[in-house]
Amino acid sequence: MLIAHISDIHCGPDLEENMLKTAIEEINALEPDLVIVTGDLTENGYLSEFQLVKRYLDKLKCGTVIVGTGNHDYRHTGYLLCQKFFPRPEIAEVGDIAVIYLSSARPDRDEGEVGRRQLLWLENMLQQKYKDYFKLIAMHHHLIPVPDTGIERNTVNDAGDVLRTLIMGKVNLVLCGHKHRPWMWKLENLTIVHAGSLSSRRLRGFFKNSYNIIKIDKNHVDVKFKVVDGPKLDVNEIQKPYIQI
Ligand SMILES: [Fe+2]
Repeated sequence: MLIAHISDIHCGPDLEENMLKTAIEEINALEPDLVIVTGDLTENGYLSEFQLVKRYLDKLKCGTVIVGTGNHDYRHTGYLLCQKFFPRPEIAEVGDIAVIYLSSARPDRDEGEVGRRQLLWLENMLQQKYKDYFKLIAMHHHLIPVPDTGIERNTVNDAGDVLRTLIMGKVNLVLCGHKHRPWMWKLENLTIVHAGSLSSRRLRGFFKNSYNIIKIDKNHVDVKFKVVDGPKLDVNEIQKPYIQI
């Protein structure tokens, strides 16, 4: 199972449109089984930004494309447009992988929250319906702080509760974005992967626009990091270390 994980496209004033175009061509050439977008499709949640990002994401040639939203998409009542342009599939089953997208964005707030009601629903899904599946959770906000991103302000308000639910529910993989800095943490048997920004000019330090390519073989997860328009990626080659740019 090959997954392209992209995040933080940020259609708007700081969009590097060539990067978005190139990234989509690169991802199509990889022929992934699944594409997951972890939010911040737009900068301001404006209609024109949603129209532009939709035009680009429609170019992805992949049977299953899961598009989630982030805090920027919820600005200026953009949450109404999210429902129109990207009606959120909370759950997708791809082979023996269950993908669950958690909503962590709230209107006009930068910090994230999963919330008690969504957590109870998730616990039920993990322990009943998807007990024997490979469990993949996607969400916009980072659950754990990421290095090289300055003062921590916008983590998930109820991150402790969420992490406990994920560990108790034997989740295998979490994909998130938000900080525009690729990183990966291992917590017990859980792998937490953060994507960089695919196409925003708002990057940190020397980091470049990037995305992740993830290979899942039974329960083994191999994460590769790809700079947009950077060196070609061989998905069969082991890439170490993930965090080096
Ligand atoms: Fe964000």
